[in-house]
Amino acid sequence: MDEFSLQDRVVVITGGAGRLGTRFAQAVLRHGGRVCLLDPGFTNSERVSDRELRLSVDITDPGQVKEAAEEIRRNMAPVFGLINNACLQPEGFFRPMEQYSLETWRKVMAVNLDGLFLCSQVFGGDMAKRGEGSVVNISSIYGMNGPDFSLYEDLSFNTPPSYAASKAAVLGLTRYLAAYWGSCGVRVNAITPGGVQDGQLEIFVNRYSKRTPLGRMAEKHEMDGAAIFLLSDASSYVTGHNLAVDGGWSAW
Ligand SMILES: NC(=O)c1ccc[n+]([C@@H]2O[C@H](COP(=O)([O-])OP(=O)(O)OC[C@H]3O[C@@H](n4cnc5c(N)ncnc54)[C@H](O)[C@@H]3O)[C@@H](O)[C@H]2O)c1
Repeated sequence: MDEFSLQDRVVVITGGAGRLGTRFAQAVLRHGGRVCLLDPGFTNSERVSDRELRLSVDITDPGQVKEAAEEIRRNMAPVFGLINNACLQPEGFFRPMEQYSLETWRKVMAVNLDGLFLCSQVFGGDMAKRGEGSVVNISSIYGMNGPDFSLYEDLSFNTPPSYAASKAAVLGLTRYLAAYWGSCGVRVNAITPGGVQDGQLEIFVNRYSKRTPLGRMAEKHEMDGAAIFLLSDASSYVTGHNLAVDGGWSAW
């Protein structure tokens, strides 16, 4: 038996059109699974193959999440896994604390936290009824640790309060749901990615790398193993855990 196999298991991935979402989808497919990607970034909903469904869905809208669940039931099979991966950086995202607008704060919370809550409720709730499943929530190092602001000195971006607060809440909800659904056979875990290299300014990459025990930022594919581990039977006795894939960022 290959304990990392996801053979024919349906995995829903929110933010499935984004940088890590597309990687997670490829990884699930490589391990034999089927994917359903939810993202308003898809202009149309389409069935790419019998193993991949792309739905243009806004996860902050409860009606759209429920409709997506119906569509998946009709077109695929019961959902086994959920990767809550979507995030949003709306207008005003990088403003300093003193000027941060409540509107921007709420938009971030709506996707990073409310959307995760709604998808967990709908898909996780179905898993609990069926007595099996795995939910993987994507947090961030800034949900675990306060930012080192010297990394962002003289740069036009930073880590804003809405991001840190939403990602810390993701870890709290992960532990809550692990306890809540443990007796129903549904496991709930988190992945805490470190910064992923993606064309950032060299000065930032250098500062970040110095601050990290492994001396570099992550490559996109380096989150895949953690996701497959947590979705598959390889982690059958793991729940309520936060797996930091951060090059050691949180170790010192
Ligand atoms: N990239 C990194 O360096 C990094 C580091 C730590 C944590 N993370 C986390 O990893 C996850 C993925 O990050 P990424 O870099 O791939 O981000 P990304 O911006 O590339 O992808 C996010 C996706 O979420 C989608 N989205 C936004 N609003 C949505 C909504 N209402 N409904 C459904 N989908 C919506 C976007 O359209 C986008 O495709 C996020 O949760 C992020 O916080 C990323």
